[in-house]
Amino acid sequence: MAEYLWFEGTPFPPLAFKTETIRACRDKFVMKDEDTVILTYPKSGTNWLVEIVCLIHTKGDPKWIQSVFSWRRSPCLESNNGYALLENTEGPHLMKSHLPFRLFPKSLFNSKAKVIYVIRNPRDVLVSGYFFWKDSKLHKHPKSLQEYLEWFIEGNVPYGSWFEHIRGWMSMRERDNFLVLSYEELKKDTRGTIEKICQFLGKKLEPEELDSVLQNSSFQVMKDNKMSNFSLVPTHYFPNGVLLMRKGISGDWKNHFTVAQAEAFNKIFQEKMACFPPEFFPWE
Ligand code: A3P
Repeated sequence: MAEYLWFEGTPFPPLAFKTETIRACRDKFVMKDEDTVILTYPKSGTNWLVEIVCLIHTKGDPKWIQSVFSWRRSPCLESNNGYALLENTEGPHLMKSHLPFRLFPKSLFNSKAKVIYVIRNPRDVLVSGYFFWKDSKLHKHPKSLQEYLEWFIEGNVPYGSWFEHIRGWMSMRERDNFLVLSYEELKKDTRGTIEKICQFLGKKLEPEELDSVLQNSSFQVMKDNKMSNFSLVPTHYFPNGVLLMRKGISGDWKNHFTVAQAEAFNKIFQEKMACFPPEFFPWE
């Protein structure tokens, strides 16, 4: 099995990505003012946001999310298929991306495209990623949570360092076209956070339309929706099935980290994120 595809110091899963596509993303892709980007470090709630934004676009009507694959509704910009789809279709586009700041299309900085950046407690990101990639055939997989934790801290996991991702993108947080959300606030106050997204996207929904967005993007409904739960991803990549809709909770890391792992992680977190005040991150 291939290890990773490395591009300028960032590891990518080798099968769905190519060096030329990742380079073209940064240097050639033209981001338009009308485009919307859902941007995350992987396993932070990307697909939840895709579902919510799709439902906001249809004013709560679930027909689109029930009939079109999630990865077609919101193609992954840097993947081979996603890039081709975005290049060959008329906009405005909704897309998702996990690219770190330094590899993102330069054209973003001259456009008014709207970007929603979702952050999540890196401990939960780590646990979610461990269970997601542990049996995949996409790239090298870890033998234990401890091994994955070491890779995560080194940035030797798909899309590289979580710490670098956050530091890079947070430099955009004061811009009007950049909305920062957290998985934790979305869990705690889903309705209020969806209203915030509507406001950012300039969409006005009636209360019953909002109810439908909430209902149709819930964990259970997404888990049962074949267009959204990744159950139809080819099995040669994930022989045991894709574990996208795993638990959908905040704080699951407490069930998996040992005390020593938690302490080691805290120390690294404090060192690497010292540039941000502690209240900046809305998790325990
Ligand atoms: P867990 O593995 O902790 O359960 P991504 O889409 O970035 O790959 O993130 C996947 C994580 O988001 C998974 O976390 C998944 O369960 C969670 N998730 C997806 N849809 C969700 C929803 N509707 N509500 C809550 N969590 C959701």
